[in-house]
Amino acid sequence: MRVLLAGANGAIGRLLVPMLLEAGHEVVGTSRSDAGLAAITAAGADAVRLDVFDRESTLRALAAARPEAVIHQLTALGERRFDENARIRREGTRNLVDGALKAGVGRIVAQSISWVYAAGDKPATEDEPLDLAREGLVGPAMALESAAAEIERHVVLRYGLLYGPGTWYFPGEWAADQLREGQLKAGAAVSSFVHVADAARAALLALEWPDGVVNVVDDEPAPAREWVPVLASALGEPAPPVTTGPSEIPPAGAGAAVGREGWERGASNAKARALGWTPAWPTWRTGFPALAAES
Ligand SMILES: NC(=O)c1ccc[n+]([C@@H]2O[C@H](COP(=O)([O-])OP(=O)(O)OC[C@H]3O[C@@H](n4cnc5c(N)ncnc54)[C@H](OP(=O)(O)O)[C@@H]3O)[C@@H](O)[C@H]2O)c1
Repeated sequence: MRVLLAGANGAIGRLLVPMLLEAGHEVVGTSRSDAGLAAITAAGADAVRLDVFDRESTLRALAAARPEAVIHQLTALGERRFDENARIRREGTRNLVDGALKAGVGRIVAQSISWVYAAGDKPATEDEPLDLAREGLVGPAMALESAAAEIERHVVLRYGLLYGPGTWYFPGEWAADQLREGQLKAGAAVSSFVHVADAARAALLALEWPDGVVNVVDDEPAPAREWVPVLASALGEPAPPVTTGPSEIPPAGAGAAVGREGWERGASNAKARALGWTPAWPTWRTGFPALAAES
């Protein structure tokens, strides 16, 4: 399949290019910079310049590339620019999808997030309600998802927290600074992680998945008091004091009482696994300790 990979130099994109090529796809990667375009061609793909905020040039790039599928892995999270990231989700995705529609693209795979669900007492499945009250976060993510759904064949990947090379959770990166500064709390908040290579593999597989939303998270949503000490040890940084309390995921509505917001509940990967996604790193418990060897 001829695939346009928007964000080919990001943490997921740079792992996804060789996976797509190895699977026999033709790949056109996008970048805004000369260095980024050169990195894409060095990886064996074609490259096209694309700034997703420049609507006309985005439409032109899609028309020139004429892909059969678009994979949307654009974020501004490398620099932790959250406002710009929300703009990518709303305005950037709008431009990308309009370009894809005009170019007759029939398929899209798009990156979303898995911490969008309303409060609950178990890891969230894809059919559960969303926490629309968190408009600043959930609104742009849903704008992205509904724009993607305008393409005939569409899969949205709701990723857990990415860890591994190129992410915030890697030796010397943001989480290491947070630990050193005592900013990461080892409390009751539950998160789902996913290794960045498993996230990339899901995007490859999703080119063949049925339409819809799929959580891409590892097997073990866990409270921070369990994963933070393991991460600290893996990154060689000091571990914060652990907040004691109930070890089970607390019941819906009990969030504040047990030190967790109700939406801090993690997500279920049952659907992704049923679709054939088998993470190489099924849990952060083994993935975090392996990070030093990946650096
Ligand atoms: N689920 C999660 O936890 C999650 C998800 C995403 C990111 N993050 C965190 O952020 C880290 C960095 O993420 P990342 O690699 O996705 O971020 P990134 O390197 O900032 O950006 C990813 C891609 O988006 C492209 N891009 C950004 N703005 C663009 C624009 N206006 N027009 C066109 N392309 C644009 C970049 O292309 P060029 O620079 O080449 O133009 C780059 O290839 C992650 O590894 C992770 O730690 C977390």
